[in-house]
Amino acid sequence: MNINFPDGFLWGGAISASQAEGAYLQDGKGLDTQDLRYFDAAWTADERKEKSNRRMNEEKFNRALSDTDIEHYPFRWGIDFYNKWEEDLALFDELGMKVFRLSVNWARIYPNGDDVQPNQKGLDHYRRIFEECKKRGIKLFVTILHYNIPVNLVLKYGGWKSRTTVDCYVKYARTLFKEFGELVDYWLPFNEINAGKFNPYNGACLIEDQEDNLDGAIFQCLYHQFVANAMVVKLAKEMLKEPMIGCMIARFTTYPADCRPENVMQMILDDQYSNWFYTDVMVRGFYPEYMNRYFQQFGIQVDTMPGDMELLRENTANFVAFSYYMSLVSSVEQGLEKTSGNLIMGFKNPFLEASDWGWQIDPVGLRITLNQVYDRYHLPVFIAENGLGAYDQVSDDGMVHDPYRIEYMKEHVKQLKEAIGDGVDVVGYTPWGIIDLVSCGPMEMSKRYGVIYVDRDDRGEGTNARIKKDSFEWYRKCIASNGEEL
Ligand code: BG6
Repeated sequence: MNINFPDGFLWGGAISASQAEGAYLQDGKGLDTQDLRYFDAAWTADERKEKSNRRMNEEKFNRALSDTDIEHYPFRWGIDFYNKWEEDLALFDELGMKVFRLSVNWARIYPNGDDVQPNQKGLDHYRRIFEECKKRGIKLFVTILHYNIPVNLVLKYGGWKSRTTVDCYVKYARTLFKEFGELVDYWLPFNEINAGKFNPYNGACLIEDQEDNLDGAIFQCLYHQFVANAMVVKLAKEMLKEPMIGCMIARFTTYPADCRPENVMQMILDDQYSNWFYTDVMVRGFYPEYMNRYFQQFGIQVDTMPGDMELLRENTANFVAFSYYMSLVSSVEQGLEKTSGNLIMGFKNPFLEASDWGWQIDPVGLRITLNQVYDRYHLPVFIAENGLGAYDQVSDDGMVHDPYRIEYMKEHVKQLKEAIGDGVDVVGYTPWGIIDLVSCGPMEMSKRYGVIYVDRDDRGEGTNARIKKDSFEWYRKCIASNGEEL
């Protein structure tokens, strides 16, 4: 069967503010939660795994608050996209990108989160980027919140545990809609809303040793994020003309270890608890019945307010986005060999190879995921992130040869094409870290995803120059031929 990508398919690339911008206090930006994550390039491989993890405790948090050091806080320096965005946009344009996914940094717009007036310099900055994208014919896919919130909201209100943070977030979103409603094509209220469950600091901004009941706090934060999400969808419908406003999760596709019925059931449960719960709330508009058992089992209760259920029901997403990097295996047996994945661990699949970070490479899993998501919701689907984190080297010829990345992208695009042939309405594909940036989990610069290399190491040292990798040319041709030339 001859399958074609639809005309106007949105080939693109994605980054997030905290991982790319740097300039962490420039032009009035406030301190945000990612600015407080400490990393030491001198850590051994094991220490990196253990220490640069996602856990935040009070001691680390407080130490970072008063620390003015930059080197050990990679999110404070990023790739200096804040100052180099013009050069980077020119490269994106040369690549032929049809859409650019980026996030706005909340603490640039409201430095403390609860300020009365927005920071004009922050607004001007994003306006310049957005207008330049429009001029170049690049559509905008904007994430309102990609993890980092103003630190003040955590100190003063307990972050997402508090309803006040919901109000501040809605005010922030209102400002973005008012300022940029005409310029932005696709809105995403939250990056990977399920992250809060698996990464309580990044996703839910929780300091773990402050919580007597961490699980309870996580689900309270998630509830507030769902409410905030619905409020922002409502606002978008009121303020914007035909808004495209979606939802997103980190999709953990999982297979049963074998055909033993118990393992199949385990796979269903893992899928519900890790994936479906989140999109079901944001697309179907209610807490699914299958979560009752989970909440009972772990004694979870959340505080709600009158009107919340109607709000959730009436304000749902009109497209579904997800990140897809790898797949895992589910089993009731605990003794199987484990491997890491994005945000969670799972069991190894003997049929798959893995990246240097243990993430199992599974292009067919992308086709499976697209079919699953589309079957369930029948809404347009956006692949908001996908890519291979790898160690790249600049060769003696000054180039970066990354055949492994070309292979990864090619195989995933082939499966994406198959899914289109299956009838899935895929709107766009924005590979992650289209330009190298600070990795989110391990905080290493050396875990690179881009088709554009950035000369900066784990210490933040280097010229910060950009170099087109071999994958740049591959992806450029892929886009130019609308997915024909792979
Ligand atoms: C996604 C996040 O979960 O995975 C990104 O949205 C992140 O922020 C990406 O960078 C890849 O993960 P990592 O840990 O390799 O950077």
